[in-house]
Amino acid sequence: MIFRQLFERESSTYTYLVACEKTHHAVLIDTVKSEVNLYLQLLEELSLKLVFVLDTHTHADHITGAGALRDAAGAISLLGKEANSNCVSQTICHNQIIHIGKIDLKALYTPGHTDDSYSFVIEEEQQPYLFFGDTLLIRGTGRTDFQNGNAAEQYDSLFRHLLKLPDNTLVYPGHDYKGWTVSTIAEEKEHNPRLQVRDLASYVELMNNLKLPNPKMMDIAVPANLACGKNESSTKL
Ligand code: FE2
Repeated sequence: MIFRQLFERESSTYTYLVACEKTHHAVLIDTVKSEVNLYLQLLEELSLKLVFVLDTHTHADHITGAGALRDAAGAISLLGKEANSNCVSQTICHNQIIHIGKIDLKALYTPGHTDDSYSFVIEEEQQPYLFFGDTLLIRGTGRTDFQNGNAAEQYDSLFRHLLKLPDNTLVYPGHDYKGWTVSTIAEEKEHNPRLQVRDLASYVELMNNLKLPNPKMMDIAVPANLACGKNESSTKL
């Protein structure tokens, strides 16, 4: 498996490139529009064919590169069916397997941060990899106070799904603001302060009292991302 973790500084977003060494088919997960030329350069340098562009959810803090990459590389853009985007090439649903050449990427519906949040699992040579957007963060969890977020659903997604994955699963966040790049399920279970709650009610109380300001790009990014990142100028409020 070919794997790269790319970072966009403005929104502290991580983008992931995963490709099959045998077929050279590739997927990009959570792209940023301003970085599209960089992705295209990397794909060309590694002789990869971009087959899919995936978003874990409708982002509120940056504009997706999905539409631009679909046009430039002829890729298929994918987003959860719950997003109700009429621009995306195909929608994804829970337990769907997406084939990246010989690599199987499994979609898990993990709502809570938003109602269209998905996580993706790959297992390669007995090593599981998890890409979870903003459902989890390293030593944190994604906020649940907008875009139909729901703290109780996030608790369920975390404790009934993601934390049940093997302890050695490598976990890759959608963002990081402190310099973390990767962790494991075991490490997060032990050291993530948001996961040390007693029960569902304590988690909901914790999440409902964060009082965070809205992301500065939210009013632009959400409608633009529902249109695959292609109409940002006409949606400025
Ligand atoms: Fe998000």
